Amino acid sequence: MTQELQHEEKTIEWCKTQSGGYSLMVDQTKIPYTYEKVEIKTLNSMYDAIKTMIVRGAPAIGIAGAHGCALFALELLSKIAPKEALEDIWNKNIPLNTTESQKTEFFKELEKGFDYLNSSRPTAVNLLWAIGEQKKIVENSKTLDLRDVCANLIEHAIKLENDDIKINKSIGDYGAQVIPKGAGILTHCNAGALATVGYGTALGVIRSAFAKDKTIQVFADETRPRGQGAKITTFELVRDNIPVTLITDGMCSYFMRNKMIDVVVVGADRIAANGDTANKIGTSTVAIAAKYYNIPFYVAAPKSTIDLSIKSGNDIIIELRDEEEVTMVNGKRICAEGVKIINPSFDVTDNSLIAGIITEDGIFKPEELKQKLQK
Ligand code: MRU
Repeated sequence: MTQELQHEEKTIEWCKTQSGGYSLMVDQTKIPYTYEKVEIKTLNSMYDAIKTMIVRGAPAIGIAGAHGCALFALELLSKIAPKEALEDIWNKNIPLNTTESQKTEFFKELEKGFDYLNSSRPTAVNLLWAIGEQKKIVENSKTLDLRDVCANLIEHAIKLENDDIKINKSIGDYGAQVIPKGAGILTHCNAGALATVGYGTALGVIRSAFAKDKTIQVFADETRPRGQGAKITTFELVRDNIPVTLITDGMCSYFMRNKMIDVVVVGADRIAANGDTANKIGTSTVAIAAKYYNIPFYVAAPKSTIDLSIKSGNDIIIELRDEEEVTMVNGKRICAEGVKIINPSFDVTDNSLIAGIITEDGIFKPEELKQKLQK
């Protein structure tokens, strides 16, 4: 079973207030220098937080999306209700009686806001999934008072938050079963507590394995260009006293050849129906090297990252990010002016390279996904 962690704090959580509440999240752009939280109170600031990677990691982005939907509903409500009435709505449980046309306008605007939020980042399917969850809540609340529509969106966002931690612990328990005793484990990017609400996916597997076996060692790829492995993964593992060695992205085959890596575990941003997996740029290079050295390569992800609507990885939209992520390090240009830059943020690992996909319901071979998960 999973061990109780020292750091059970949520990366992102809804804070209830007299006027409905707001989203509170760790600012991941500041890790490892400072551990700060920011309050997000509007749809636009949630869009920016996702786009600028204050919140990042597929499951955390999903929860941010669910929060953003609730925030926008509150914003729209505050445009309809006078300030005094708004307080009564929440404090005295008084419904907000609106006209039919006000309601129609509310739902029309809400839908537009949800779609806008979904356009903040394209690759992690968890954003689309969580906004889809909130759309279902809206659909089932259409006959209710608008105050109750907002309350339902808030409650559902909190439910998704709590589910995320339980799901990750289950992924951890299943995944720990495939980690050999004393293993050297390679991971890429950050799929830890900070990429989720808590515990993590790939790092959840590592945490659960470490709870059983204190002799495991982790190798963390630095993960250029944004350095999530160097900055965030090592921060999390050091904090939990799990032995970790930082390596640069090009080093993995050195450590594989020298028999220091026994297994690879990474997270995922979107998994197609055939098991092809989009994850942080550089992941597929690790998978190809692992295949060459006969090292099992596992993907750890919740079912909400599996997109059965797309057949293969060819249909996954890969986010292209700003060229300055490549050209600049600590505010300083590291290459000649005039050089051409292409900065894809993710790549697709072919299903043939994946030994198993570790989910909250068990470990599946890529070819089993459709049959096991299709309802
Ligand atoms: O661009 P990011 O930092 O949001 O991307 C996240 C990743 O690609 C991670 O590798 C992670 O494994 C997927 S989320 C747990």
